[in-house]
Parts: sequence; structure tokens; C-alpha cells
Amino acid sequence: MASGVHQPMAWTGVDRDTELRTARLWLRGFRHDDVDDALAYRDDREFARYLPHIPQPFTRADADAFVARNIDEPWATLPTFAVVLADHVVGTVNLEIDPVHGVAMLGYGLARAHWGRGLATEAAAAVVAWTFATHELIAIWASTHADNLRSQRVLAKLGMTPDPATGTERRYWLRRPAASRAAR
Ligand SMILES: CC(C)(COP(=O)(O)OP(=O)(O)OC[C@H]1O[C@@H](n2cnc3c(N)ncnc32)[C@H](O)[C@@H]1OP(=O)(O)O)[C@@H](O)C(=O)NCCC(=O)NCCS
Repeated sequence: MASGVHQPMAWTGVDRDTELRTARLWLRGFRHDDVDDALAYRDDREFARYLPHIPQPFTRADADAFVARNIDEPWATLPTFAVVLADHVVGTVNLEIDPVHGVAMLGYGLARAHWGRGLATEAAAAVVAWTFATHELIAIWASTHADNLRSQRVLAKLGMTPDPATGTERRYWLRRPAASRAAR
């Protein structure tokens, strides 16, 4: 893992008004006027290839529901960051936090037009840093399809370690860094 890979440049706010800034990206909670951007990148079979819960075609009604859900879900356990590049939402990084077991699942997706520039890793690394700094968690995990090599590469670049392969799932883990202490 490259030193500092999990450091966002800055973050502000708590709860739904949390904002993270990285070298190229702004991560923030969803807003109602994000529907057009969500529709533009999520109506894409290649984007949804390993994400069967995303309907294809992805309609405006799907985009409305997606944005509304991300606004309504409880930030304490299900935070979803909109990833903003050049004034447009081009992806998400989300967590499913399990405070009982002290772990969180990490998920992410980025518009196909921007793949291969390190942006998903940059966004996810910022969220990982924020998560360990603000939550008393033991570890973050993620799961991806065995054929989703891009996603596995992102997880490796985040410094995550794969479990032994089982079936078509590949599950990766990242333990809380020893030096990391939650701020609250
Ligand atoms: C997975 C995803 C987030 C990656 O986004 P990205 O911004 O392209 O990711 P990055 O640029 O940070 O890293 C991608 C890495 O995969 C590598 N890669 C690209 N195509 C690859 C392939 N066919 N096989 C192996 N590695 C590949 C890239 O070279 C890069 O690694 P590198 O930095 O060592 O060169 C993006 O493809 C996506 O949103 N896919 C659809 C949604 C999805 O599958 N989400 C994950 C669900 S678990």
C-alpha cells in the first residue's frame, strides 16, 4: 500500500453534511438535483455488469428512486457519498456499517467514461480514511465478483487482503491501521 493512500486532502461536517475533498474529487451526500447525473452514468449495461441489483435499462424513475434512497437512508449506518468531478456526479462510494460487530462493507461505482484514471481508488481511499477516523471499527470489508478484475485491482490498491477464493465471490479485508484512532 502506498503511504498516505488513505488520506483525503480534507474533510468537513458530520452526518449527512460530511464532505471529503481529494486531489481531484469532491465527495458529499446526494441532493435531489443529482438525478440527471445519476441517470447519465447508471443507464449502462457495462457499468452494471457485476451489479445485478441495478436495473437495465436504468430509467428516470430508477434514478429518482436511487437518489431519494441515498438521501433518506440513515447516514450513521448507510452513508452513500456522491463522487463529484467537474461539477457532475460520476459515481458513489458507500458503506454498510455494522456497529455491533465493528465492521463496515465498502462499495463503489464510477461512470465508465472515467475508468482507468485512478478515480475510484482515490474516492474509496478517502472514504476509508474518513471511516477509520470517525468510527470505532475493527475492519472494512468488500466483496466483488471473481471476474471483476478492475474492482479487485482497486481493492488491492487500497491495501486490502483477499480471503481464500470461494466460488464467484472475492472478499477482501482491511484492518484498522494500528496508528488510527477514531476521533469520536
Ligand atoms: C471497478 C471500478 C470502480 C474501477 O474504477 P476505476 O476508476 O477505473 O479504478 P482505478 O482506475 O482506480 O483502478 C482500476 C485498475 O484496474 C486495472 N484494470 C483495468 N482493466 C483491467 C482488466 N481487464 N484486468 C485487470 N485490471 C484491470 C487498471 O489498470 C487499474 O489498475 P492500475 O492503477 O494498477 O493500472 C469501475 O470499473 C466501476 O465502476 N465498475 C462498475 C461498478 C463496479 O463493478 N463496482 C464494484 C463493485 S464490487
